[in-house]
Amino acid sequence: MKIGIMGTGHIGKILVQKLSVAGHDVKVANSRGPETIGADVLALGGRAVSAADTVADVNAVIISIPPNRIPQIAPLIAKLSADTVVIDTSNYHPFRDGKIDAIEAGQV
Ligand SMILES: NC(=O)c1ccc[n+]([C@@H]2O[C@H](COP(=O)([O-])OP(=O)(O)OC[C@H]3O[C@@H](n4cnc5c(N)ncnc54)[C@H](OP(=O)(O)O)[C@@H]3O)[C@@H](O)[C@H]2O)c1
Repeated sequence: MKIGIMGTGHIGKILVQKLSVAGHDVKVANSRGPETIGADVLALGGRAVSAADTVADVNAVIISIPPNRIPQIAPLIAKLSADTVVIDTSNYHPFRDGKIDAIEAGQV
């Protein structure tokens, strides 16, 4: 599969490595630009791209960023076709992300 991953932190980095080894065509982005993605992230495969490029011509997108950063990438997700699978690893941690009123009020 062609997979775009947003986030190169603890979770995103492992997903790049495991999915590349499994034979998938993986693109990955952080918030600061492809030139800032470390060689360790790409050691087993995958390509560093911009966040906008992670959603171009892929079968699946994996979001692996803190929930309070999701509004930054929401416009990219909104443009995806209905048959693109979106996987979100996010957990809401108010002590890390700050209080998000919509989640506190029960919004998924
Ligand atoms: N750590 C765990 O054990 C664990 C387990 C399950 C789920 N989760 C959840 O999975 C998510 C990721 O966790 P993590 O521990 O991997 O986080 P992390 O180590 O803090 O990494 C966050 C990543 O998100 C990127 N990012 C932030 N804003 C972005 C944007 N607008 N566009 C593209 N990339 C962006 C950051 O890039 P920059 O550094 O360039 O800003 C960074 O690469 C969180 O919601 C967390 O709660 C974590």
